[in-house]
Amino acid sequence: MNPLSRKLRNNYWHLLCHRQEIKDSGDFIRFDWLGEEVVVFNDNGSVIAFNNLCLHRGARIFLKDFGNQPFLCSYHGWSYKNGQLSVPKSQFSSTTDFSSVTLNLLQIDWCGDFLFASISPKFSLASQLSEITPLVERISHSIFARYDFNRYGYDCNFVIAVENALEPLHVPFVHSSSLGLLKLEHDTDTFSGVNSACYFSIGDTRTRKHLLSLNKYFSIDFQYEGYMSVYLFPFTMLSSTFGYSYSLQNFFPGNDENTTQFTSRLLTSKLSKLSNRNIMEPLFHSASKINRQVFDEDHLICKQVPLASWSVEPPPLVTRFEERIVHFRQSCKSELIADNYNL
Ligand code: FES
Ligand SMILES: [Fe+2]
Repeated sequence: MNPLSRKLRNNYWHLLCHRQEIKDSGDFIRFDWLGEEVVVFNDNGSVIAFNNLCLHRGARIFLKDFGNQPFLCSYHGWSYKNGQLSVPKSQFSSTTDFSSVTLNLLQIDWCGDFLFASISPKFSLASQLSEITPLVERISHSIFARYDFNRYGYDCNFVIAVENALEPLHVPFVHSSSLGLLKLEHDTDTFSGVNSACYFSIGDTRTRKHLLSLNKYFSIDFQYEGYMSVYLFPFTMLSSTFGYSYSLQNFFPGNDENTTQFTSRLLTSKLSKLSNRNIMEPLFHSASKINRQVFDEDHLICKQVPLASWSVEPPPLVTRFEERIVHFRQSCKSELIADNYNL
């Protein structure tokens, strides 16, 4: 399994954060993937993504999940600012040339205000996202701020967690007291290259009417009046109810094949007036609370599915709600076939 996870991590672009999350110099976010770490950092206005190991003797530099701090290694004081490495003067003679010592940078690119990074991309970001690009761009332009950050390990392989997020079939069973209350009615699935999206109407009339009434508090030029879930192959989901906030979820493979490093963020959309923040606070608070409950419920059920149950072939009987899973497995299979990997 690890060759597939590694290949997907190294060769694809991954949505790591929104511009608002790293808007000030010193802002950073850290992620774990396959036992390594990537950090996105605002270096005095330039955004960089790099492997979180010091150039000196490899200490981890950023330890928190996110925050604001200088790029300074606490072991021997090496630092990095304005694209330059800086070493305490006493440690070398004044003629030492540091020009060959460079950070282990990842490539970065933007889709609207979403930052993507890749270690060694096979394609451009635009061709990876293909026809879903305008949708991702419009979503990114709707977002105003990060409201909630939630992180923990899932005790299952990332393919199990991703497939669970790709199908609505489990919602009435696993989320009966959370997402299930919306009584989602499946409208349509769309596919764009390796990516996919799924759209639902909200069957619960009271909730739907209430959500419609909140429109005036927002200033967004894009909205799906229902529930939508966008999957960006291989590790990212973006979901939203009525476009008032977006849940950005990364399912990065863990070091062990039975773990997934899960990070979710609630990103709230632009308001028509800043003072609407107080009025919308209960909505954002309850969205983040319900999302956390939904992820806990998902985690509990995913733990029940061993990796041995998974294969790149479609399940023996595919319901009409599982087309995105078949599509996901096809994409994984193509990766394995391309390099003659075995599972
Ligand atoms: S390991 Fe970072 S300064 Fe020495
Ligand atoms: Fe779920």
